Amino acid sequence: MNMHFQETTRSPASAATSQRPLLALGLLLVLAAAVCASPGARAEEPDLSGKEVVAATCSKCHAMGLNGAPKIGDEKAWANRAAQGLESLTQHALQGIRKMPPHGANFTLSDIEIQRAITYMVNQSGGHWTEPISKSALPAERTGEQVVKAQCHKCHEAGVGGAPKIGDRAAWAPRLSHGLDALVRSAINGHGGMPARGGMVNLTDSELRHAIVFMYSKNEEAGK
Ligand code: HEC
Ligand code: HEC
Repeated sequence: MNMHFQETTRSPASAATSQRPLLALGLLLVLAAAVCASPGARAEEPDLSGKEVVAATCSKCHAMGLNGAPKIGDEKAWANRAAQGLESLTQHALQGIRKMPPHGANFTLSDIEIQRAITYMVNQSGGHWTEPISKSALPAERTGEQVVKAQCHKCHEAGVGGAPKIGDRAAWAPRLSHGLDALVRSAINGHGGMPARGGMVNLTDSELRHAIVFMYSKNEEAGK
């Protein structure tokens, strides 16, 4: 929680009255702490990405193929299962199937986190699915500039790991050769050093698109 309080000017004569704002401040902090600790706060936390869920929970069995679990990276094993579609796979993962425990035995996971984890494992095994985003807890649409400043700049400012730099047309142009839609899809899924959705899993497709356009055209005015 980020709070800024303006220091109020106090006259030395009113030492007693100056306690009042302090008391009020104390109450405020207590209230704020109570709000943060309430169960509703869980909904404010961003959902985990598929990769995070798999690393924390599913990989226990799916990394090695324990008890006949389809192994991550085993294209054949996953292709057969993926053929039934995400809805059906999700039902099985939520309810459990044979030696697959319900929810992967982790009941703190939301349905959408389970879906992302499945999508991640399918994609690590030759699939090309798109990780779903939460439709119920969408924040207000952020502009491309806001998204870039909040997240993408961490790598795209300096070009960390070979990330095309913000405003570097020459670096972006070849990546745009298959069109903006293809690039948005690529950013949704991630690859190499580029994490899925740039590592900010609650970004919508349209926010990602605006962020990409912003990074591509940053120097447009300056370059003229
Ligand atoms: C305790 C071991 C274990 C854990 C942990 C586990 N799984 Fe599984 N999973 C299995 C086994 C075993 C199977 C194969 C079940 C079968 O078809 O007989 C399986 C199968 C699946 C399937 C295929 C279902 C189908 O319809 O074919 C999906 C999807 C799946 N797991 C998702 C997950 C996800 C997502 C997680 C993490 C949140 C997870 N699993 C965690 C053991 C596990
Ligand atoms: C942790 C570092 C990191 C962050 C954060 C990050 N990126 Fe990237 N991004 C990369 C790297 C590295 C590449 C180059 C990957 C490659 O082509 O191998 C890349 C490539 C891309 C590409 C080109 C993909 C392609 O197929 O050519 C797009 C588009 C992209 N990033 C968008 C974004 C957006 C939008 C954000 C913010 C929401 C973001 N990135 C945040 C590291 C990052």
